[in-house]
Amino acid sequence: MRVHVADHPLITHKLTYLRDKRTDSPTFRRLTEELVTLLAYEATRDVRVEPFDIETPVAPTTGIKLSNPKPLIVPILRAGLGMLEGMVRLLPSAEVGFLGMQRNEETLEAITYANRLPDDLSGRQCYVVDPMLATGGTLADAIRYLADRGADDITAVTLLAAPEGIKAVEEALADLDIPINLVTGALDERLNEKGYIVPGLGDAGDRLYG
Ligand code: PRP
Repeated sequence: MRVHVADHPLITHKLTYLRDKRTDSPTFRRLTEELVTLLAYEATRDVRVEPFDIETPVAPTTGIKLSNPKPLIVPILRAGLGMLEGMVRLLPSAEVGFLGMQRNEETLEAITYANRLPDDLSGRQCYVVDPMLATGGTLADAIRYLADRGADDITAVTLLAAPEGIKAVEEALADLDIPINLVTGALDERLNEKGYIVPGLGDAGDRLYG
């Protein structure tokens, strides 16, 4: 997995307020959206495009447009919903599919409880959005799910990631022979005994939606 940790003062600045436990839900939601827009810029660096002929008022020229099939954005419910709007703003013609996954807080294993994705993802570029990569169980399952349906290029966008989680995703998906990327706003220190990212920001779903 190719890992890109955003190194930009605006991202770190917004993450600082996001992490602060005094930040209320409306502010948390707004900051999440702003952060996604910045991270999506990096995450879409390799979005598939093709030449597109146009005429300016002065002369004909060739630009680019997104290739078909259009990319698929997959927010992981529930916290990933907070990142959807920012992602769609940058890729308005993308399709959106939903995966509902929840981590069992005792076993830390991910359970899939909802799926609204096209059955056939052959040749699709997918962008998975979820604020947290903690133990990595959720993201590994989500990527496997998309790859099993034919997705051939998958980029995950997270606000925070833990080193243990990145390692676990890499191990779990070692057999996949497609490009897998992670763009994250920060790489935190570690996981605590409850599987929370340290220093992290707490439970993203609760902080977004109460
Ligand atoms: C959080 C987060 C990820 C997952 C990360 O969701 O949004 O989906 O945990 O944990 P992992 O890397 O250890 O699998 P949660 O299960 O709390 O569900 P929610 O989004 O509905 O609150």
